[in-house]
Amino acid sequence: MKTVETVKELRSCLRPLRDRRIGLVPTMGYLHEGHVSLIRKAREECDVVVLSVFVNPLQFGPQEDFARYPRDLERDARIAEQAGVDFLFAPPVEEMYPQQPLTKVTVSQLTDRLCGASRPGHFDGVATVVAKLFHIVEPDRAYFGMKDAQQVAVVEQMVRDLHFPVTVVPCPTVREEDGLALSSRNVYLSAEERSQATVLSAGLREVAEKVKRGEMTLASQAIDYLKRRISSKPLARIDYVDVLAFPELTPVKELTGRRVIVAVAVRFGSTRLIDNIILHEK
Ligand code: PAJ
Repeated sequence: MKTVETVKELRSCLRPLRDRRIGLVPTMGYLHEGHVSLIRKAREECDVVVLSVFVNPLQFGPQEDFARYPRDLERDARIAEQAGVDFLFAPPVEEMYPQQPLTKVTVSQLTDRLCGASRPGHFDGVATVVAKLFHIVEPDRAYFGMKDAQQVAVVEQMVRDLHFPVTVVPCPTVREEDGLALSSRNVYLSAEERSQATVLSAGLREVAEKVKRGEMTLASQAIDYLKRRISSKPLARIDYVDVLAFPELTPVKELTGRRVIVAVAVRFGSTRLIDNIILHEK
């Protein structure tokens, strides 16, 4: 594996490999098994695997955790090499943003709800950095986790709207044994918060079971159920609970008959966790 810090060097490394299938896994590092699952998928499907590790300041709000976001590039490099990465692209902030950018990518509508509503500007930051990474790497395939389902919807829309010649590959959410979705931010949780945080995945699983058994048919029932279930944990502060069509992210009344996302965001202390399930997956 080769670690590369500049755009110029990465481009010259990839130039002789342009006839091969190139896979990109964009991350902010502090790698865990969720990230590793994307790398493995890329390794299976591509000849060359590029992993980017870049904590993108553009997607953090002024009150958010950019400065304290966990970072450990040495550890990431060991994990990446073991998982079969060919090129680890870890640019400093000045390399990606030599000046204050005046150009940004905005995907409208899809970003009006869920995390887009709670984190204004967040998805402009995501779409802009992903567009930059696509131009730098020019991958054939790019791998994203369904843990961040709205991000998948936004990136897929951007790819279609701007004719990026890349296939977006959505990958399933990897979970701890007790159901908690893996996240770099889980390290912030205290022991008590960590134990109460299982309510997100447990509540979502219960909703899926009730829908399957025909006991729950309306979006409003799922929202009420999850609000009550999550509020039963004293340390949980709900940011949102919502049910939308996926990937359109438009409101729905019924839980049945189409692909829908049930999505939650919950704060434990200063840590914000998200999780979701997709019902009626094709
Ligand atoms: P980050 O949070 O590091 O996540 C990188 C990729 O890993 C994303 O596609 C995310 O959905 C996926 N991922 C995270 N946790 C996962 C889990 N438990 N199971 C499966 N996949 C998981 O998402 C970002 O970084 C950034 O917004 C980025 C796309 C890199 C742009 O800056």
